[in-house]
Amino acid sequence: MWRKRIIQLATVFSVTAVLPLIAVAKAGVLFKREGAFVACGQLLSLVPGRIGVFFRRGFYMFTLRRFSANAHIDFGSYFSKSGAAVGDRVWIGGNSVVGYATIGDDSVIGSRVSVISGKRQHNFADPRRKILDGTGEYSCVTIGENVFVGEQSLVMADVGSKSIVGAGSVVVKAIPAFSVAVGNPARVIKSRYPLSVIRPKERQRGRHQKYGRSLLQY
Ligand SMILES: CC(C)(COP(=O)(O)OP(=O)(O)OC[C@H]1O[C@@H](n2cnc3c(N)ncnc32)[C@H](O)[C@@H]1OP(=O)(O)O)[C@@H](O)C(=O)NCCC(=O)NCCS
Repeated sequence: MWRKRIIQLATVFSVTAVLPLIAVAKAGVLFKREGAFVACGQLLSLVPGRIGVFFRRGFYMFTLRRFSANAHIDFGSYFSKSGAAVGDRVWIGGNSVVGYATIGDDSVIGSRVSVISGKRQHNFADPRRKILDGTGEYSCVTIGENVFVGEQSLVMADVGSKSIVGAGSVVVKAIPAFSVAVGNPARVIKSRYPLSVIRPKERQRGRHQKYGRSLLQY
């Protein structure tokens, strides 16, 4: 009870403290200039300890599409797109950068992870064009609920709910739900689908072995 009250008070204090930055970021986004939003986020990413977590939470609660009041974003981490959305109890480790993405409830993003806004931010179709000519597209990467993304991974495609992405992996194609995927490019090596949920007929036909190794390992 007291703990909850203290957290609420700390949240109110943090929001008040970062109000000028919220105003600057909001004004920038209004005029379609995300630079101010990114710069304010980068500044707050440098505040250490618990106070930094509260400051970043207070800032992103009012500047992102959604940032849950109980989500955590650690030292050195920031968002590069205000269109990102972060669910309840999400944990984002240190020195990570998240672009245009939706992160489902209870997911954990490790340290030094990059979640980029799809793979087509730059248009490589015509070699005569300049890379930075602004004709690329930013697509929303969806990370499901209760997903774990390991340290130093790079995510540029969707990750299904309840999946694990191993440390140092590069996700270039969508990872189905209940998978363990590792490597560059990330490939599914195991399924986490609970055996009790698989119907006996499917088990006989081996359909549960759809993704890589046998589910019977779990
Ligand atoms: C993905 C992970 C959970 C797999 O653990 P596991 O189920 O015990 O898997 P195993 O150790 O049995 O490995 C299975 C295979 O995948 C490979 N593998 C495991 N993790 C890998 C990774 N991150 N990248 C590439 N290959 C990996 C193993 O070498 C092994 O290959 P092999 O069968 O050819 O020998 C674990 O390796 C991992 O990456 N954990 C994340 C740790 C982390 O980021 N912590 C951050 C703290 S916030």
